[in-house]
Amino acid sequence: MTRPKILITRPWPQAAEDDLRRRYDVTVNTAGPLDRSALIQAMHDYDALCATVTDKLDAEVFATPDARVKMIGNFGVGFEHIDIAAAKAAGIRVSNTPDVLTDATADIALLLMLMTSRRAGEGERQLRAGGWKGWGTTHLMGQSLQGKTLGLIGFGRIGQATAHRAHTALGMKIAYHNRRRVDAEIEGPLGATYVDTADELIKTADVLSLHCPGGAETRHLINAERLKTMKPTAILINTARGSVVHEGDLAQALRDGVIAAAGLDVYEAEPTVHPDLLGLENAVLLPHLGSATVETRVKMGLRVCANIDRFFAGEPLLDPVA
Ligand code: 8YV
Repeated sequence: MTRPKILITRPWPQAAEDDLRRRYDVTVNTAGPLDRSALIQAMHDYDALCATVTDKLDAEVFATPDARVKMIGNFGVGFEHIDIAAAKAAGIRVSNTPDVLTDATADIALLLMLMTSRRAGEGERQLRAGGWKGWGTTHLMGQSLQGKTLGLIGFGRIGQATAHRAHTALGMKIAYHNRRRVDAEIEGPLGATYVDTADELIKTADVLSLHCPGGAETRHLINAERLKTMKPTAILINTARGSVVHEGDLAQALRDGVIAAAGLDVYEAEPTVHPDLLGLENAVLLPHLGSATVETRVKMGLRVCANIDRFFAGEPLLDPVA
């Protein structure tokens, strides 16, 4: 029996690629992100795609006539880059990789909270540029996070893991807004307060951390109007999706002192970052490192494999999103 043909659109850690190769005829694209015409070609050439955030799988790609692809195993939990309605209409199944990257992403949210509140990027840049004149009583004073309120927009797995770290390691108070309130067993140990509206949370948070999905509903949730309602001492953290924040409005708010700082791991048009953010000392800018540990990336690959296996065995997907 011929083995299904599968394309991994961007290389994975070896252990995960090897796992897939044991059961399938695997091709790995090593030539960088695929453009639309390459994705359309891939729709003709393979039975399944192991795609990721850099693959814009839009309606046009799913409209490929006589497509051979029947399954897309997304390497990543977020799937804003995939037109789920178009996938469904084309009868193509889609899975993602939840759970396995929760801790790694929450770690990055905490890293950004600490880097922004303690001015770590600014300090490192100063030192490397030879600008450090020695220890000083008022040199680069930041803000303490102890006892401050962390407001989380989106309180799923990653939001909860971030809240747990901030509460237990930094002594922060936890408030959140989510599509629905979570169970008392989750709120209890965190002392978490549910806030009815995002607007109310935005006004009251000392650190506002975004953990909601990207997409039409959350696009530019954080814009000039809402930034103006935040505390002038507030810090914004985004490890969710770039589209949730209007980057130009944020850059202006940071420049004008409307809020104190921002820590970003995701951007509206990756890998492009709004040029006005690049020169700001109070912006900490990471290159989408949320899940970037060897351990996590191997687990993500294996989770894609588990979904692919189920698809070709005719079993229900482990992590279906379409
Ligand atoms: C992924 C992420 O590694 O899983 C996600 O949604 O944002 C990242 O941590 C990357 O986007 C590849 O999907």
